[in-house]
Amino acid sequence: MIEIVTSWEEFREKWMGGERRQNFLLKGEMFPFRFEAPPLEAVVDAVRRHKDTRILHGHPDQLNLNQPYDGYVDLPIEEAIAAKANVAHFESREFAGPGQVLEGLNETFDAWYDLLASHGFTHAKGQRAFFYSGANCGSAYHFDSSYVLVCQVVGRKRFCWLKDPDRWCPPATLNEQADYYNLMRRPDGIMPEDVIECEMEPGDVLWNVMLTPHWVYALDEPTYSFNLTHFDLRCDGVKSPIHEFYDEMSRGRMAAAA
Ligand SMILES: [Fe+2]
Repeated sequence: MIEIVTSWEEFREKWMGGERRQNFLLKGEMFPFRFEAPPLEAVVDAVRRHKDTRILHGHPDQLNLNQPYDGYVDLPIEEAIAAKANVAHFESREFAGPGQVLEGLNETFDAWYDLLASHGFTHAKGQRAFFYSGANCGSAYHFDSSYVLVCQVVGRKRFCWLKDPDRWCPPATLNEQADYYNLMRRPDGIMPEDVIECEMEPGDVLWNVMLTPHWVYALDEPTYSFNLTHFDLRCDGVKSPIHEFYDEMSRGRMAAAA
């Protein structure tokens, strides 16, 4: 069962509601914005040529084994779109200036951050990442150390997380793997009944709670989203219980390393 939050009152309640690592969708007044996506080919073509873009093979059955996709930039664009690849750029503002392929995107996301601020939330400057996947390509299992707003723009994908993250990703695991994305491994033994799968369509917006292990795969069409980070997010100056837990764990790790 995927929860849907439709008011800021609910959002604030969830914010302070203990250490529950469950994602939810935002609808209605929570995200009343829409970005009109330019043609997929034009976007992928612009992003794939940027020096900071990360391009990996998107093997759907080997979620932890994604390797660099050499030569992707030189493929004819139709072949590139048909290829099994994951293309990521961690700052979509690079493509959102006047006359650029994602023109208008900055205004949409500025409006989100303004709305968040008008409801008492502050945060450090965040990334506005672009994530593209070819049909049926997947991303690796991981958790993020900030809250992430996932805006699905083109195509459909499945965003998956665990019903019981404490069972599969207890504090000891969080502590071991925090800050080391390449160390994160999907635990063996996860069965379909342990997983929540959220099928996202264009226009859907998901709030990914920090430290919630997740993985994502495209359905049978190419897809992209924008994922916005919110480091040091606070409501009325206060961090969430999950955030406090994470900070305490990080302090312990630093003390142990000193
Ligand atoms: Fe993530």
